[in-house]
Amino acid sequence: MIKPRRPHFEGSIKNIIDEKVFAMSNKDRFEFGENWARFLSTLDDKRIDVAKQSLQALIQVDDFKHLRFLDAGSGSGLFSLAARQLGADVTSFDLDQNSVACTRLLKERYCPDSTAWNVLEGSLADRKFLISLGHFDVVYCWGVVHHTGDMWNCLENLLPVVKPGGRIVLAIYNDEAYVSKIWEGVKRIYQKLPEIIRPIYVGGVGAVAFFKRLIVTVMASCLRLITLKNPLVPFFNWASETKSRGMNGWYDLVDWVGGWPFEVAKPEAVFRFMRDRGFTLQDFSTSAGHGCNEFVFIRTVPVDV
Ligand SMILES: C[S@@+](CC[C@H](N)C(=O)[O-])C[C@H]1O[C@@H](n2cnc3c(N)ncnc32)[C@H](O)[C@@H]1O
Repeated sequence: MIKPRRPHFEGSIKNIIDEKVFAMSNKDRFEFGENWARFLSTLDDKRIDVAKQSLQALIQVDDFKHLRFLDAGSGSGLFSLAARQLGADVTSFDLDQNSVACTRLLKERYCPDSTAWNVLEGSLADRKFLISLGHFDVVYCWGVVHHTGDMWNCLENLLPVVKPGGRIVLAIYNDEAYVSKIWEGVKRIYQKLPEIIRPIYVGGVGAVAFFKRLIVTVMASCLRLITLKNPLVPFFNWASETKSRGMNGWYDLVDWVGGWPFEVAKPEAVFRFMRDRGFTLQDFSTSAGHGCNEFVFIRTVPVDV
């Protein structure tokens, strides 16, 4: 078995993520934690503030005091940190040991003495583990279930932890039929490439996606111009579609191109799945093209565990 190459981390990240973790990396999964560890070297107060604002806007609550917040698939740990700084009692978990290490690093760096932030290693596939966590006012599961390899069962497992009246935030890749198949191919190729080639491949895919969008936007702008309408509107629309959550463009792109396993869902399939289990849709944003649909559901009917 090829041992994954250890990435170069700055300062204390290097101390926290040890050789043992890298030796245990699963080669069939995208190394989310490695990507998050690199992202953490770009983390600053501005990004943390943007993450906090994005959480407040999503949950539609300013003060998180006394809320029990579960970050299911915490990744870098940025949203656990944001929720903790907003006052919530936070539990974070992830399947990937390097992601768990990243989340622990953020806790140690920003909230070393906090007893109101618990970081665990665990899986959405493990229903018993989830039940053992108790019940939460907010469950944040952004961009996770579509990377589990068993999306609907993992989502089903997670639902009992949402308190009656509690919210669950989901972001799930949009099903775009044949376009999603192309993305599946793009990700499969990434998995097969030697590590050294991967950044070039990611850059190439990013450039193609950018120029494709640029051409469409310029054409829309020209059309508006000849019909005497404001030609800048398509550019403004493009800019407003790029919602910031405090993440970094490059590491988001790596995650986007490499993220594997990969599944997609039509928004109506997610809506019906949740409705049939006693959840009401509170808020929803569609993706423009390839990306995630974002849902906020409230649990209106208790679910039997
Ligand atoms: C795209 S990242 C999203 C991270 C974070 N939620 C965010 O919004 O930035 C997906 C994360 O899901 C985690 N993940 C994948 N399968 C999982 C599972 N079965 N249980 C828990 N976490 C899982 C990955 O390790 C990764 O950290």
